[in-house]
Amino acid sequence: MNYDVKDIGLSAKGKKRIEWAELDMPVLRQVKENFAKKKPLKGVKIAACLHVTTETANLAVTLKEGGADVTLCASNPLSTQDDVAASLVKDYKIPVYAIKGEDNRTYYKHIYATLAAKPNITMDDGADLVSVIHTERKDLIKNIIGSTEETTTGVIRLKSMAAGKLLQFPVIAVNDASTKHFFDNRYGTGQSTLDGILRATNRLLAGSNFVVCGYGWCGKGVTMRARGMGANVIVTEIDPLKALEAVMDGFRVMPIADAAKIGDFFCTVTGNLNVIRKEHFQKMRDGAIVCNSGHFNVELDLVGLKAASKGVKEARDFVEEYELKNGNKVCVLGEGRLINLASAEGHPASVMDMSFANQALGADFLVKKGSTLSNNVYTVPDEIDKEIARLKLAALGIKIDILTKEQKKYLASWEMGT
Ligand code: ADE
Repeated sequence: MNYDVKDIGLSAKGKKRIEWAELDMPVLRQVKENFAKKKPLKGVKIAACLHVTTETANLAVTLKEGGADVTLCASNPLSTQDDVAASLVKDYKIPVYAIKGEDNRTYYKHIYATLAAKPNITMDDGADLVSVIHTERKDLIKNIIGSTEETTTGVIRLKSMAAGKLLQFPVIAVNDASTKHFFDNRYGTGQSTLDGILRATNRLLAGSNFVVCGYGWCGKGVTMRARGMGANVIVTEIDPLKALEAVMDGFRVMPIADAAKIGDFFCTVTGNLNVIRKEHFQKMRDGAIVCNSGHFNVELDLVGLKAASKGVKEARDFVEEYELKNGNKVCVLGEGRLINLASAEGHPASVMDMSFANQALGADFLVKKGSTLSNNVYTVPDEIDKEIARLKLAALGIKIDILTKEQKKYLASWEMGT
């Protein structure tokens, strides 16, 4: 078996951590049990480009239990957990191509190695596999039933390909399932982003001005948790509705040009590029801490920051201190890559449980129904989404009410008014 991991000797630690995550992934465990009995993915080759974490390991093992041949590479150069990569290879016999801190060339070399398996299904977190297939490996398209996509940024890229009639196979937008983005994007990003910032800096949040750029589901999560730690949270937005929502959720809203002057912490979660630019860095307080928790490392204009700086030094792991020409220092965390995975461990297993149950059942759906779909971006079928919510509630031991006959009839009628 070919693979490329940092150190296969790390596998024992990785295995323990994979098993620990599984304890908090009851929905995925049930999917795995069903897959083990029915083998719905028998003989299907799956190439996955995901953050190589303990939670992803449990997804990969679930797909393998379902009968799939799985190959995995990283969806970000800084998010790989090397012990997990080692254990997947050694203990679970799943080929992995991922090394934390790999350079861009190695990142793409790993993508090519994963695609060499000639997949029938691709699983992306950011659409890099689909993008490489459509540009450099068009020969693979004929083998592909479809793809699944984990994240908002990837879904945006894929919808743009579909709108331009370029997409050559169907894609299931796992991100758009309610059991994904309501939980993973909000509570997952909220907790893991704060975790990443704190592990990298060990700074006090209480009483600080914490600027969050973007008030989508991820931004909502980050603001909520920063407020919980006692920060004064400021939101920047370009969408009037989201800005209004942030105002009525009790946050100060202002342009980044104003927020730049008063923030102690800055975190971008917009999915767009150059959100914090040179002119903003130049206005920041001495010692400001800046990071990104959006998918790609494009949200901070680090080229502009470098141009405004006299020098840069590593202040501690995951912290680069830029000394500006105006004498102030700006600290950038995790090279502007998603901080929750760079300096922490990503979202906790309990939310990834639902995201990855969607991934596994999405793959199952593609095998069963892929040939009936056109080359477009689809949401996860509602029955699957609802079933995942039901299973999660059951696992949490929470019961809910059911409609009475009378209530059902009332909801289906229009006659009864005041
Ligand atoms: N994205 C965010 N957190 C993650 C995790 N723990 N595993 C895989 N992908 C993630």
